[in-house]
Amino acid sequence: MKILITGGAGFIGSHVVRWFVNKYPDYQIVNLDNLTYAGNLRSIKDIEDNPNYTFVRGDITDGVFIQDLFERHQFEGVLHLAAESHVDRSILNPLEFVQTNVIGTVNLLNAAKNLWKDNYEGKLFYHISTDEVYGSLDEGGFFTEETPYDPQSPYAASKASSDHFVRAYGNTYKLPFVISNCSNNYGSHQFPEKLIPLFINNIQQKKPLPVYGKGENVRDWLYVIDHAHAIDVIFHEGKHGETYNIGGFNEWKNIDLIKVLCKLMDKKLGRAEGESEQLISYVTDRAGHDLRYAIDAHKLMNELGWKPSLQFEEGLEKTIDWYLENQDWLHEVTSGAYQQYYEEQYEGR
Ligand code: NAD
Ligand code: DAU
Repeated sequence: MKILITGGAGFIGSHVVRWFVNKYPDYQIVNLDNLTYAGNLRSIKDIEDNPNYTFVRGDITDGVFIQDLFERHQFEGVLHLAAESHVDRSILNPLEFVQTNVIGTVNLLNAAKNLWKDNYEGKLFYHISTDEVYGSLDEGGFFTEETPYDPQSPYAASKASSDHFVRAYGNTYKLPFVISNCSNNYGSHQFPEKLIPLFINNIQQKKPLPVYGKGENVRDWLYVIDHAHAIDVIFHEGKHGETYNIGGFNEWKNIDLIKVLCKLMDKKLGRAEGESEQLISYVTDRAGHDLRYAIDAHKLMNELGWKPSLQFEEGLEKTIDWYLENQDWLHEVTSGAYQQYYEEQYEGR
């Protein structure tokens, strides 16, 4: 089988590429990534010489290039992860999110449709999406696959739009597809603009920990390798035309999570208990900040037998250890443009 994975140099994509390259030596896997600030080939260095793996640098917003790539490689399956993924950046620059997340996705859908239209047998377009398309919950309830879409940030709106396009291609052109909507991921190789790696980095450097608002927003955290496993299961066993929610049943108020992180880091760094908590600094809230996300993943668990494998503290410890042991990776991605983003995002907040 010849498959295209987009965004394979990013956080989740690098874990998905590694999972597929190692588990399926008979598949030919092409990783297409434009290597934006969030993409880093070092994250997949360990598999780059595998005979079943090829990297292609390219931009999903370039429709002609994408069409040509599909014709050249004759893909049978697509796992689409490439995206602009950070909510704060979408508030600073929404159009970039429309370009990559909406137009980029439609370019891939067009290329798949054009290549496969005479015979859809054995073909699949798998679109990897987010729970943010469902909007924000208050104290109670969960997002299910039937929850109406109600995206609140430009990022969420762009992902919701891309989900709608995938379903529209399924309905109109009968393109075989599956979609999954996942909760917050954490683990190694995540760009340190997102809460957990940003705070690990700042704690280590004794820099302030910018907690938005009162820190009372709730997220449902899933270990990234559990997400990669879910993607494997859905790609191979998911029912075409269906949506699967993926989540960890692991809700944390930001401030509680941050305190656990501080405690674990104090231990790892040999600091006095409570030292890192002193770095907590409450800052102006994110505009339109969603209060709570919580995924009901029972459909995936009951129908396809997937379940999360790790306890949160165990996963957090593994994640901290990875960042402490991979300072080169961290320094590389936090040099240059990162500094400029950091100032724009946090200065004067
Ligand atoms: P990421 O930002 O870490 O990586 C995105 C990757 O896409 C990068 O390697 C980047 O270079 C590449 N990319 C961006 N624009 C591109 C373009 N125009 N052409 C080609 N490549 C391009 O993102 P992530 O956190 O790994 O998320 C991956 C996917 O999973 C996204 O679709 C995201 O919406 C979804 N998702 C993420 C989470 C999460 O918690 N991070 C949760 C649920 C769903
Ligand atoms: O729910 C899935 C989504 O999770 C993915 O689709 C997104 O790609 C991913 O970025 C993530 O979105 P969040 O906005 O939830 O993640 P982030 O790490 O940016 O923020 C997590 C929470 O922490 C959120 O409530 C905002 C808060 N936060 C974040 C940052 C960066 C802070 O309090 N301070 C910060 O500096």
